[in-house]
Amino acid sequence: MRERLARRTSEISSFYVMELLRRSKELEAQGRNVIHMEIGEPDFPTPFTIVEAGIRHLSTGAVKYTPAAGLPELREQIAAFYRQRYQITVDAQRIFVTPGASGAFLLALGVSLNPKEELLMADPCYPCNSNFVTLLGGTTRTIAVDANSHYQLTATQIQENWSSQTKGALIASPSNPTGTLISPDELKRCVNTVDDLGGCFYSDEIYHGLVYGTDATTALAYSNNVFVINSFSKYFGMTGWRIGWLIVPDEFIEAAEKLAQNIYIATSTQSQYAALAAFNEDTLAELERRRMELAGRRDFLYDNLLRLGFEIPVKPEGAFYIYANCKKFTNDSYQFALDLLETKALAVTPGIDFGSHDARHMLRFAYTTSVDNMNIAMQRLGHFINKG
Ligand SMILES: Cc1ncc(COP(=O)(O)O)c(C=O)c1O
Repeated sequence: MRERLARRTSEISSFYVMELLRRSKELEAQGRNVIHMEIGEPDFPTPFTIVEAGIRHLSTGAVKYTPAAGLPELREQIAAFYRQRYQITVDAQRIFVTPGASGAFLLALGVSLNPKEELLMADPCYPCNSNFVTLLGGTTRTIAVDANSHYQLTATQIQENWSSQTKGALIASPSNPTGTLISPDELKRCVNTVDDLGGCFYSDEIYHGLVYGTDATTALAYSNNVFVINSFSKYFGMTGWRIGWLIVPDEFIEAAEKLAQNIYIATSTQSQYAALAAFNEDTLAELERRRMELAGRRDFLYDNLLRLGFEIPVKPEGAFYIYANCKKFTNDSYQFALDLLETKALAVTPGIDFGSHDARHMLRFAYTTSVDNMNIAMQRLGHFINKG
């Protein structure tokens, strides 16, 4: 009989955290107060300036398709943002507005990856990126990384793992799940190494802007021959609006335009009009207040996890995650997360969702909830560890 389900679906991993989410919904339905530290989006609403701009546009009723690459004025504004924030000039023609970073990476892979070609990525990393590669018939070679390189790939690892099949390498800095950044020097070496090898470099910069006590460097600082993936989801607080952007090297502009037209026609029109307000002064001031709040949350969580006996060999400087080693308490962080939810109503994400390297000793804590909530969470965690 003909197979009805595509074979590739069996190669796409699903998230273990979904089981935790399912169970936490049940517990909440029973009246338990679950504290969510597994969620990859902050508890802040979209800044009102952005919401207002979206509503203003919606009320005109002119919600038609935009050009596939996005509203020209939004692409110009993104280019201006690169000039202001990074002192880098990017031609707006190279900027594609996409349905989130997810759409951006899919578009980048769509124009650059052939079936059977391989991409190098860190383990641990954000799993959807490698699933996109699988979807397009490519393969991922994950390379174990640890605290010594701030959980980031190094140029030496890229060089050593490069084979005749390898098409390129992906770096996500700040990283999900570790919140750590690659150093500017290492990023430059990675970009140059991939360039010398004739491959494609993909830089997932979705957590740029959410960086504490340092600055994140864009791969564009070192080459125009890179794909940069970014989004309005995290820093700009627009997860549900589904809007992001991709910057492509010149030679990919035409192909990206063609592919974008075909796979999604255009990004949501009202989201694009809303995003026009993302770079105005009031919005950026509000985002800065939120960044400061997140920095305080990071410090609170970091100090408390260390106090409780978790190991965090490198203090994360970005995103809103802490990837903590729990080997003092368990050899099975997934079971630990299930038991923690069941007995203490605290939800965190097990390492196994981000790869296999030392994953059973790791838990990702997201500081996407208030210090008050995290205070209660830390008490629950303390009692759980001490079997209280
Ligand atoms: C590293 C990384 N890249 C990409 C994405 C996709 O984000 P979006 O499609 O919402 O822009 C996420 C979402 O959590 C992420 O953590």
